[in-house]
Amino acid sequence: PWDAALAQQIIDGFAGQRGALLPMLHALQGCFGCIDDAALPLLARSLNLSRADVHGVVTFYHDFRRSRPGRHILKVCRAEACQAMGADALIAHIKDHLSVDFHETTADGAFSLEAVYCLGNCALSPALILDEKLVGRVTPARFDALVAGVRS
Ligand code: FES
Repeated sequence: PWDAALAQQIIDGFAGQRGALLPMLHALQGCFGCIDDAALPLLARSLNLSRADVHGVVTFYHDFRRSRPGRHILKVCRAEACQAMGADALIAHIKDHLSVDFHETTADGAFSLEAVYCLGNCALSPALILDEKLVGRVTPARFDALVAGVRS
């Protein structure tokens, strides 16, 4: 859970360093699992930036999560080889099946959907990673089975 005093302590640990915002953000995400909205004014004050500046950086880098990650992390490849093998249709199916977009977490907190660009598994496109496990030749039916297996 969010802890403003702890967040401030983390931020203070980087105070005075050049380019401190990114290390601060990484440390906050490491501690809390995401960048809570409540962290933005603390960061802005510490670095003498506007809240909009801090918000801009957080949203620019897709590494930073705005909400807590789901229990399962799903990373779907969007690079060329996978696209040629139907990744776009698969992604549309996944978004529809889970009712999420990229960088979002399902309402039940089960899955977070992320995009990746080539998993080095092009021969078995389209590919995805579910909880660190690489899966190739993913069809919509295979995806549904994977999700059902994880949920059960
Ligand atoms: Fe998807 Fe290489 S393009 S694994």
